Amino acid sequence: MMDKRLLALVPGAMRHVLATVGWQWLGLVGNVLLSWEICRVVGALLAGTAPSIPEAALVLALALLARLASTRLSARESFAASQDVKGALRRRIYEKLLRLGPGYAQEVSTAEVVQLSVEGCEQLETYFGQYLPQLFYSVLAPVTLFCVVAPACLPAAVVLLVCVPLIPLVIVAVQKVAKRILSRYWDQYATLGDSFLENLQGLTTLKIYHADAERHRRMNEEAEHFRVVTMKVLSMQLNSIIVMDVVALGGAAAGISVALWQLAAGAVTPTAALFVALVSADFFLPMRQLGSYFHVAMNGMAASEKIFRLLDLEEPPARTLAPAPADALSMRDVDFSYDGDRKVLSHVTLEVAPRGMTAVVGVSGSGKSTVAALLSGHEHGWTGDVLVGETGVDQVDPAALSRHVTMVAAGAHVFSGTVRENLLMAHPEATDDQLWAALKTARLDGFVRERGGLDMAIEQDAANLSGGQRQRLALARALLHDSPVYVFDEATSNIDAESEEQVMAAVRELARERAVLVISHRLANVVDASCIYVLRDGRVVGAGTHGELLANCEEYGRLWGEQQALEAYGRGERHGA
Ligand SMILES: Nc1ncnc2c1ncn2[C@@H]1O[C@H](COP(=O)(O)OP(=O)(O)OP(=O)(O)O)[C@@H](O)[C@H]1O
Ligand SMILES: [Mg+2]
Repeated sequence: MMDKRLLALVPGAMRHVLATVGWQWLGLVGNVLLSWEICRVVGALLAGTAPSIPEAALVLALALLARLASTRLSARESFAASQDVKGALRRRIYEKLLRLGPGYAQEVSTAEVVQLSVEGCEQLETYFGQYLPQLFYSVLAPVTLFCVVAPACLPAAVVLLVCVPLIPLVIVAVQKVAKRILSRYWDQYATLGDSFLENLQGLTTLKIYHADAERHRRMNEEAEHFRVVTMKVLSMQLNSIIVMDVVALGGAAAGISVALWQLAAGAVTPTAALFVALVSADFFLPMRQLGSYFHVAMNGMAASEKIFRLLDLEEPPARTLAPAPADALSMRDVDFSYDGDRKVLSHVTLEVAPRGMTAVVGVSGSGKSTVAALLSGHEHGWTGDVLVGETGVDQVDPAALSRHVTMVAAGAHVFSGTVRENLLMAHPEATDDQLWAALKTARLDGFVRERGGLDMAIEQDAANLSGGQRQRLALARALLHDSPVYVFDEATSNIDAESEEQVMAAVRELARERAVLVISHRLANVVDASCIYVLRDGRVVGAGTHGELLANCEEYGRLWGEQQALEAYGRGERHGA
């Protein structure tokens, strides 16, 4: 059971595998030497002559030395093989994910990727570090032993050699069942991993709605399925081990019986018969050991199938074009659907001015974030043209595109660590002065200074920041990225009105030099944009300046009126209270 593709995946590991086999073989030679010397001493005693003590001591020392070297060095080589494999596989998975880009999650779940690259790789480590060397060794060992036993007692050697292949026959029979069960085992494992990850991430929400008990029950059900399939795997493994033990011990017994029969018939000497008895188990032990590794190796093979499925996923074609700094973003007659069925954008044509603020407004669900996702290369599969300069966004190297367009979304992730680490992500060479300037523009400098400066600790999920502070930190980070185009998608949605006004002033400042696309519910934020596009049900129903739209666009007029009324009401409330 050697998977060619798996071997080709890590060619370097094969050298260590063969070295492991070599050292194991040296151990076998040591064993044979030891048995041979014991037989010689016993033979001499039986014949009434005194065995040579110095010679016996020398052989004993040599044999022990060979065993010691074998154990240590084969373990070292086997470890080296496993390390190569783990490293190579993880690197491949990682590089594949990079090439697949953010869209990988549509093909394979994050939990599965995590399981494959952690546990899947561990199991393949056993495949290369133990199973493969054992596979070669378990063929080499019986052949070697046959060569030394045959001159002593040919019939016994033949019987022993013939019985050895019975063990792989058992293995093959088991393999058929094993493959099916193991594939189910991995499916259940991935399903359980998926729900575990999701439930853990949403635990707070589950607690709030007291929905955790129901989720708990469902996870228990999944865990139970997983337990059942795990027990099936284990019982299959144990049963096959019992069968292999019977075959191994039975084979050794058969060999010894033949030797005794030959002894009784006077065909061999007692020394030869004793030698057969001492080494007969060694014929079977390697194969028997192979049988135990085989189950782990099967696990690894099942994992490797899943890893190959991941590695075989179709990649977006390699793209090398890079946008020029002055290239602006635009859409021409774009249609888009997430599921291939319901249209989310229809005939959208818009242009993000190379300097100044462009805005997209519209009610919730009208397609604003989808526009941002297409322009920044986060979604693919539209018809029409989404362009950066005159090049299709899908022709441009994703890394170059992400340097060209900085997307700041409402829920931008803030990492645990320090404020400095979060900021340096966008501009690794930035000086402290530059970091403070960005924080100042995002109106977060006062807060950070109070909490100990740039090394202020940020907890996991930015739990020690308010929603608004998180957004401001994300904004400061974006400002440091220093790209020609910025897309702000509700980037100030959690910030109080007064600070929002200040942050928007910073955005307007930025728009003097860069192309800025602002997506915002609050029309007040975008009144001075050079062009505002109004979306409704995925269509552009109006475009122009605030004044033009108030005059010509009914949808805009309605949105403006509603928001003005709401804000006037809010002000009245406050004054009345
Ligand atoms: N990943 C997705 N898969 C499937 N449908 C989606 C996905 N993202 C958005 N949609 C759908 O596309 C439509 C437009 O969504 P979009 O997020 O662009 O709206 P939006 O204008 O940004 O809304 P909001 O103001 O609430 O942020 C919605 O009907 C939504 O259900
Ligand atoms: Mg949105």
